[in-house]
Amino acid sequence: MWTRERLQTLVEEKLQDCLFVVVSNREPYVHSHAHGAIQCQVPPSGLITALDPVMRACGGTWIAHGSGNADKETVDERDRVRVPPDDPSYTLRRVWLSKGEVDGYYHGFSSDALWPLCHIAYTRPTFNADEWSTYKAVNERFAQVVLKEVGARRAFVFVQDYHLTLMPRILRDANPNVVVAHFWHIPWPNREAFRVCPWQHDILDGLLGNHLLGFHLRYHCNNFLDTVDRAIEARVDRDRYQITRGEKKTAVRPFPISIDFEEVARRAGGPDVEAEMQRLKRSLELEGRILVMGLDRIDYTKGIPDRLRAIDRFLDRNPEYRGKVVFIQTGVPSRVHVPAYRRINDEIDTLIDEINWKYETGDWRPIIDMRGSQSAVTLMALRRLASLAIVSSLHDGMNLVAKEFVASSLGEDTVLILSEFTGAARELTDALLVNPYSADQVAEVMREALEMPLEERQRRMSRMRAIVRENNVYKWAGDIVSGMVGLRSGG
Ligand code: F6P
Repeated sequence: MWTRERLQTLVEEKLQDCLFVVVSNREPYVHSHAHGAIQCQVPPSGLITALDPVMRACGGTWIAHGSGNADKETVDERDRVRVPPDDPSYTLRRVWLSKGEVDGYYHGFSSDALWPLCHIAYTRPTFNADEWSTYKAVNERFAQVVLKEVGARRAFVFVQDYHLTLMPRILRDANPNVVVAHFWHIPWPNREAFRVCPWQHDILDGLLGNHLLGFHLRYHCNNFLDTVDRAIEARVDRDRYQITRGEKKTAVRPFPISIDFEEVARRAGGPDVEAEMQRLKRSLELEGRILVMGLDRIDYTKGIPDRLRAIDRFLDRNPEYRGKVVFIQTGVPSRVHVPAYRRINDEIDTLIDEINWKYETGDWRPIIDMRGSQSAVTLMALRRLASLAIVSSLHDGMNLVAKEFVASSLGEDTVLILSEFTGAARELTDALLVNPYSADQVAEVMREALEMPLEERQRRMSRMRAIVRENNVYKWAGDIVSGMVGLRSGG
């Protein structure tokens, strides 16, 4: 079983004098001015959920964009701050970007071109040459920060996600002492979908600067091999999952990402969570009612309108549940400067309003809208109070919300409805798997979930808990670190 301690030992033994550097766009701790003081917040992100415990265990340096309006006031003269604030165990090195750079590189090419390109959710990617130029310049900037950080030392650099596709090539060409690995947190689409990107060659060439490239699923690895095979000059070895371009090799591997199961379960059982559960029961009038929850970063890939339509269908078909079931939708709005995200928020507002208007009676409203920033304790209390969680993503690399719900189910008596289009569906086969595009099917499965006998609920949840406990985030990181070390010694 992988634990934090086992990962620590692996890092100490294998990385020894090497520097361990993580690079991502999103930073794990954001400092902002609020109510006359500086507050520190953890942004809603699967990447942060997974990597923060790993960095706490490994130490090292995390390089990321400093996006908070008090970030500059909290770093030292070398743009560094030790984090987490309550138990400093690694260094966050912030990179500063102008608003124009954020618009072109993050809102533009990353969020409005690569994100819809890789998620098959029928939102069209927008390709804009100015945004692409800014994306290239920002990748170059990140690379220079990393190279300066590393200096003449040997280093393992672990790059995250689609914001930094060009950086691995720059690093590998500039410094032979660096081993570069990259984890792709979202799906890799099939080659037909990817080929519409006008700059596909540059992106593939950049990614083939990596020594090791990880995806959640073997299916995504295969899509990547197919894409490279068709798009650029490279030798693709499908038996070894290895690509050679200009004598340089890239190993392509699946590493299903996960959570710190024990820590989530420990927090779920805390006295603060128990107290919050009591408070919520009273304030939301949940006594005697069944709670169903949805918890998502507000994104058009998460299938939130589809879930709401299924709830409408469920209440329409099953009038006996009116007054008895309450749906809570939580989640933080994100990327609100991108038009498609503003539209999805408007669509959710309209649907919640319509459904509540259609079914509400004196003291009961079917949907409670809790979108916005909620404390970690409140979210955990909601997970504990819920009998059923619905994850209805239209397409998702993994979906750690599903795994967190499983880890928080201390009584092992809750049910998870999970979209078959998430990476998590490959592991959590005891969830009730659904096609979120079919409101009828989801409504039908909701009824099945609410009427499932206790014994079956427990059998399913206990099997899922065993899987997430074993395939935890320390295993994910341990497998990647072992892979990087193997490549250094093996060439
Ligand atoms: O999980 C996919 C992902 O892109 C993460 O990489 C990212 O941190 C998260 O979604 C949230 O997105 P953003 O950083 O754009 O808020």
